[in-house]
Amino acid sequence: MALADEGSITAAARVCHVTQPTVSMQLKELADTVGLPLYEQIGRKIELTEAGEMLVASARAMSQEWGAFEQKIAALRGRRLGRLRLAVVTTAKYFVPGALGTFCARYPEVEVSLQVLNRDGVVGRLRENRDDLYVMSMPPPDLDLEQVEFLDNPLVVVARALHPLVRKKSIALGRIAQERFILRERGSGTRMACEAHFKKLRFRPDVRLELGSNEAIKFSVAAGLGISVLSRHAVASADRNLVAVLDVAGFPIPSHWFILYPTGKRLSPIATEFLTHLRQTAHR
Ligand code: PGA
Repeated sequence: MALADEGSITAAARVCHVTQPTVSMQLKELADTVGLPLYEQIGRKIELTEAGEMLVASARAMSQEWGAFEQKIAALRGRRLGRLRLAVVTTAKYFVPGALGTFCARYPEVEVSLQVLNRDGVVGRLRENRDDLYVMSMPPPDLDLEQVEFLDNPLVVVARALHPLVRKKSIALGRIAQERFILRERGSGTRMACEAHFKKLRFRPDVRLELGSNEAIKFSVAAGLGISVLSRHAVASADRNLVAVLDVAGFPIPSHWFILYPTGKRLSPIATEFLTHLRQTAHR
C-alpha cells in the first residue's frame, strides 16, 4: 500500500520507517508468495502490475475492515476511537473543516485525515477506495455510489470589489462577454459545471487565465486580471474588500454537494456518525 501511495521504494521505506533494502526484500517475498511480479520499474517510475493493483485493492479493503472492527470494539467499551479518512473537493474546504471541528470536539480521540483535491483528484481516490467518505458536486456517473445530497453549492460570478458592474441588477450575459475570465483548471468540478452552463447559454468566455486554486483566483480577480465563476462558499464575508458577487442573468449556476461512498462499502462507526453529523451541520 505504501508503494502504491508513494510511487517509489525510497518513499515507501520512509513512510514505513524502515530501510530501502528492507522494503525491497519484503516486496520480493510478497511477490514470491503471490507467485507473480507486483510492480515494474520503468525508468525511475514504479508501475504496479495487474496482480499488484489487485493486491493493493484487497489490502486496502482488509485494512479498512480491520479499522472498522477496532472502532466497534472501542464502541463496546464506550469509546469513539479510530481514524476518519475524508477526501473533499476544494470548494468544500470552506465548509467541511467547521463540521470536523465540532465532530472532533465531541470525539477527541478520533484521528482525521482530510485530503483536499480537485474533482479529478477526489474521483481518483474514490476509484481506489482510499477513504471512508468523499464530498463533491458532480458524482462520476460510471461508478455505483451511495449519494447523500447535503448542501447547495451555487456557483456565482465574481469581480473585483470596485468593478463598475458591482450592485448592478440582472447584468446581461452580453455585457460580461466584454470581460476577461479567470477559470479553474481542467479536472476541476467548478470548471466542468461552468463549461456545461456556458454551453447551455451558448456563451464563449474570453479566458485569460486558468488557475488551480480558488484563493489564487480571488486574488487575481481582486488584482483586476478578470472576472471568474466560483463557489459561493469560496467567497467569504472577509473577502468583501477583495471581490464582490455580480448579479448576472442566468447565474448562479445551481449545484449541490454530495457525500459519497461506493455502494456495498460497509462504513465504519465513525464514518457513519460523521455522515450524520455533516448532514445535521449543513441543515443547521
Ligand atoms: P473543484 O470542486 O472545482 O474543486 O473540483 C468541484 C465541486 O464542488 O465538486
